[in-house]
Amino acid sequence: MALRGVSRAYREGETQRDVLRGVDLEAAAGEFIAIGGPSGSGKSTLLHLAAGLDVPDAGTIVVGGSDIGSLTAARRTLFRRRQVGMVFQFFNLVPTLTVAENLRLPLALNGLPVDADRIDGLLDTFGLADHRRDYPATLSGGEQQRVAVLRAAIHEPALILADEPTGNLDRERGDGVIDLLRTLAGRGTCVLMVTHSRHAAGAADRRLRLDSGRLTPWDW
Ligand SMILES: Nc1ncnc2c1ncn2[C@@H]1O[C@H](COP(=O)(O)OP(=O)(O)OP(=O)(O)O)[C@@H](O)[C@H]1O
Ligand SMILES: [Mg+2]
Repeated sequence: MALRGVSRAYREGETQRDVLRGVDLEAAAGEFIAIGGPSGSGKSTLLHLAAGLDVPDAGTIVVGGSDIGSLTAARRTLFRRRQVGMVFQFFNLVPTLTVAENLRLPLALNGLPVDADRIDGLLDTFGLADHRRDYPATLSGGEQQRVAVLRAAIHEPALILADEPTGNLDRERGDGVIDLLRTLAGRGTCVLMVTHSRHAAGAADRRLRLDSGRLTPWDW
């Protein structure tokens, strides 16, 4: 995927807040990139743009060969459904579906086979086996986060955008999520992960920092 000269500003009454000021990023298939930066620097904004959930004021976003800015809204929805897995900062699980049903959704929407044994295996691996028939609201924050990561990954999209996917997890559970993201990258998925954790960022192939509207290499 590639971001070229991507800018995004928000209006606040009379004033304009330039959140992204010409962001460039080239990420290869199979590359796992960590993005850090201060709160409010635009990390979630950047992921939403890469997902096609928001449209930049300037610049182009290319995923899997398509310039998503040139797609109609309907095509962008189809593109997102099949090619993107998004782990939102605040999870966004479907509240009226059980854990197992939330995981089935990306497969069903894409007409992919729903393998119940595979879903059960993933839930088991991530310590969620007892919650498969529960609704998200009854799960802890860390449990919801793990469901959100599995939901983003289950249809093996070309691009996974993960907004602090280990933020609510202890070290062991967080490492489980990182291992899953690494495995997907190993199969050719491009992974962009926003994190404030040095430990999590250390598992990525490359680290970048968003500050003052620009992405720069992030060295510790
Ligand atoms: N829909 C919106 N309308 C107006 N301003 C917005 C909107 N979304 C984000 N912003 C502003 O853009 C800036 C960047 O927000 P963003 O959520 O991308 O930051 P972030 O880097 O993800 O922060 P955090 O680490 O706290 O999650 C903030 O100042 C925020 O108030
Ligand atoms: Mg954010």
